[in-house]
Amino acid sequence: MKGADLQKLESIGDAFLFIENGNIQSFGHDADCKIERADETMDCSGKLVLPAFCDSHTHLVFAAWRESEFVDRIRGLTYEEIAKRGGGILNSAAKLQAMSEDELFDKALIRLHEVTHMGTGAIEIKSGYGLTVESEIKILRVIQRLKEQNIIPVKATFLGAHAMPIAFKTNRQGYIKLLIEDMLPRISAEGLADYIDVFCDKGFYTVEETDQILSAGARYGLKAKIHANELDYSGGIQVGAKHNAISVDHLEYTGDEEIAALQKAETIATILPSTAFFLGLPYAPARKMIESNLPIALASDYNPGTSPSGNLSFILSLAAIKLKMLPSEAINALTVNGAAAMEVSETNGSITVGKSANLVVTKPVTGIDYLPYSYGQGWIEQVILAGKNI
Ligand code: NIG
Ligand code: FE
Repeated sequence: MKGADLQKLESIGDAFLFIENGNIQSFGHDADCKIERADETMDCSGKLVLPAFCDSHTHLVFAAWRESEFVDRIRGLTYEEIAKRGGGILNSAAKLQAMSEDELFDKALIRLHEVTHMGTGAIEIKSGYGLTVESEIKILRVIQRLKEQNIIPVKATFLGAHAMPIAFKTNRQGYIKLLIEDMLPRISAEGLADYIDVFCDKGFYTVEETDQILSAGARYGLKAKIHANELDYSGGIQVGAKHNAISVDHLEYTGDEEIAALQKAETIATILPSTAFFLGLPYAPARKMIESNLPIALASDYNPGTSPSGNLSFILSLAAIKLKMLPSEAINALTVNGAAAMEVSETNGSITVGKSANLVVTKPVTGIDYLPYSYGQGWIEQVILAGKNI
């Protein structure tokens, strides 16, 4: 959904919703309900029933939190300064390299359960804290195991180009060669990734390197979903649009040229406002993007460095408060457009007959305006996944 349509959020009052075999079987006005018997019923009087959130950008598989860097930033260091001295992504990579696949899986599974309890009904998860052949594959295997739990739909993204490992600091092409000639073939042979990602930004990967890596990914059938323009006007948006990326994500630094590039592509503009909140960056110009008719999604960016929370209710509030998105626009960006940004629209992202019954039931509320307004209060009463209360 894009432009003025993004505001369209249909609703039915005094409604029923019938679930069978985990899917939405029918819904409509109570008066039109033809269902005579159900094994279980749930009274949602005064509450809203919404599609569960679709979180199309997370780094949920990581070894440890980074709260000491958070305090370093309170003391005045910037994110880039911390990264330059081996903190940041490289810090996370060192810890992850030392952790076993099983331990990583156990930690990630807990986080996956936690986010489902906060209303997430489909999720994308990236590698990128491995930065060696073995550790990148270790993360992707963990994501594969999370998929196999069948808790919610999970999409896997290979983000080997998340940072430059110290050992390759003066030999960048050496690492890129490893990524293209060793990692990609093995990941592809094991079917471990749905997408390829590059952190195309100042101090990370250049436009040329991004182009090179995305082209290699395409040869293995991996579509692009990239980190772009978080720290600067990096050219990341343009190179993403050139590769017809499924999405370009972050977009704090988006001007007229970037918008023009996206207008020519099918790419979804995914805004991650919690990163701007957490790092004190400027916010992406969401209104301008909506007025320019770009499809906008919102996601959590859940990761230990720049967004240590997978709570999408908070993203809903940030979108309203900081991005000036209307409640209806933000809900659509977190559901139907989030689903599109990870290609799960056939099964998730809206209340549609035949889709999975992944739903959020609110506490009694006056309407959707209350949801972003009551930030941090917890308005979700019940989450339903494949028709089951969790
Ligand atoms: O999406 N921008 C790049 N990657 C992550 C942050 C990674 C980290 O600091 O650990 C992000 O913000
Ligand atoms: Fe990210």
